[in-house]
Amino acid sequence: MIDLAVEIGTIRMSNPAMLASGVMDETGEALVRMMEAGAGAVVTKSIGVAAHDGHPNPCLVELPHGYVNAMGLPNPGMDRFAEELRTIMPAPAPVIASVYAADEEGFVAVAAAMEDAGAAGVEMNLSCPHAAGFGMELGTDPARVRSMVEAVASSVSVPVMAKLTPNTADITAIGRAVEDGGGDAVVAINTLRAMCISPEFARPVLSNRYGGLSGPAVRPVGVRAVYDLRRELSIPIVGVGGIETWRDAAEYIMAGASCFQVGSAVGRRGPEVFREITGGLQAFMESHGYAGMKDMEAAVHD
Ligand code: SIN
Repeated sequence: MIDLAVEIGTIRMSNPAMLASGVMDETGEALVRMMEAGAGAVVTKSIGVAAHDGHPNPCLVELPHGYVNAMGLPNPGMDRFAEELRTIMPAPAPVIASVYAADEEGFVAVAAAMEDAGAAGVEMNLSCPHAAGFGMELGTDPARVRSMVEAVASSVSVPVMAKLTPNTADITAIGRAVEDGGGDAVVAINTLRAMCISPEFARPVLSNRYGGLSGPAVRPVGVRAVYDLRRELSIPIVGVGGIETWRDAAEYIMAGASCFQVGSAVGRRGPEVFREITGGLQAFMESHGYAGMKDMEAAVHD
């Protein structure tokens, strides 16, 4: 069997399939369940400095090829979530804490609290497309991104990744800002800013009006973003967006991702998808003569 083990700095994963932030990741018990189902690492729901209720319902629309969500970053706050994380340490696989804040000071505080609670890495949410004052509102300005990544990377000793928004003219400029700021990896992509309208009620369906589109519909956008980033950056790229099968994961790896995240598919089909995807990927690599994931990338990037 081909060894799919992968490392991002000090984060050592037995396989490249990570649980994406926002799906079945709100409690320690749920995170361990994903690890036992075969996830190589798990990313938590985005955590902020203080507890936050998020947007009122309706906050999720299911579509034939994806979801539009506007959860609004609901979370118990860093102190309460740090307690929760401690209950599963030492964890059977790396836990990466997704963190969000409105400024450098907030990001540093949450990242430090998560490291202290045992997180193996930090994923900065610079990309939520529907939370005023957070996420994408900060993550489309390269100078701001560099300054926030610099602040976090110089304050914690675990690897720092930044999750990027596709809602920008040039995602590679944001990726370069992460690399220049000392970030260890970029995660691409978060959801596409979207809206659903009910013709019968003549109003937007989501209480927040705007949400973010995820699922298979966004996969070609994610693959393109990873491909573009790979041509510009030296740091690892984590691919995310619409991965449901080993074939989808193979697309991201060939585009240049060192590892990948699965989100909507875990919600739709259950945690069994991790072993289905990694097993299928190994079988494909063997049957096509690829010794490792870097060979798959090299086959597309000449
Ligand atoms: C949310 O909680 O609203 C989703 C987070 C995100 O899109 O980054």
